[in-house]
Amino acid sequence: MARSALLNVMVDAVRKAARSLVRDFGEVENLQVSLKGPGDFVSAADRRAEDILRTELSRVRPGYGLLMEESGSIAGSDDQHRWIVDPLDGTTNFLHGIPIFAISVALERQGQLVAGVIYNPVMDELYVAERGGGAFLNDRRLRVANRREMHECVIGTGIPFVGRGDHHAYLKQQQAVMNETAGIRRCGSAALDLAWVAAGRFDGFWEQGLHPWDMAAAIVLIREAGGFVSDLSGGDKMFETQGISAGNETVHKKLLDILAKAK
Ligand code: IPD
Ligand code: CA
Ligand code: CA
Repeated sequence: MARSALLNVMVDAVRKAARSLVRDFGEVENLQVSLKGPGDFVSAADRRAEDILRTELSRVRPGYGLLMEESGSIAGSDDQHRWIVDPLDGTTNFLHGIPIFAISVALERQGQLVAGVIYNPVMDELYVAERGGGAFLNDRRLRVANRREMHECVIGTGIPFVGRGDHHAYLKQQQAVMNETAGIRRCGSAALDLAWVAAGRFDGFWEQGLHPWDMAAAIVLIREAGGFVSDLSGGDKMFETQGISAGNETVHKKLLDILAKAK
């Protein structure tokens, strides 16, 4: 697959930051036993990866704005383009030595998401998509799963935790989804969970409480893999409402119906 110049730029930056993350991931296990614990170290790893991404992306596309989890919003001289970056999605996994985490980078042009790259460096799985160009995992074309019956479907989700989200409302949703599906999975990286929908591993996904950097790249991937993405009311306000639901056309619709009834 011949990648566009834009995707090459994104992939190069992501791979460079990934080398730093992988080095730091190797240290995490040693730190589990230290007195201070690995928390501060992981925050530093996160910032190191973000610095690399900011430096690389700004070097090749000077002027583009940035929205990054750690540094927030950085305006550029070019107000038509904005990178949306999560340098480490799956921080809790990383901290616990669980090898499910990723870097996620998306490009927004005139308010539209046009390209996305998500990389899990431990599994060496690189997901790339550009609007109109299809979605790929390590150069293999992706297509969402085509199951239509909910009782056959595996659905990914994000579960709120201490200090985050409405636990009561979430449990109602989970109960409703588990009653009708083949199983629910919580892997701990929304970017990868959504990439797995694009890859047909998960039939659907929903989560409330996400930020643009958790989902931007994955939205491009899912759409390019023929899937449907919306907020939890079926609209396109994923960033504003912080809610997202995805799947093939049928599963996406059925999942939204189940969630609506669970209110
Ligand atoms: C988190 C992960 C997780 C999701 C959380 C996110 P972080 O991102 O994507 O799967 O459930 O809502 O905050 O903090 O690891 O970058
Ligand atoms: Ca995240
Ligand atoms: Ca993060």
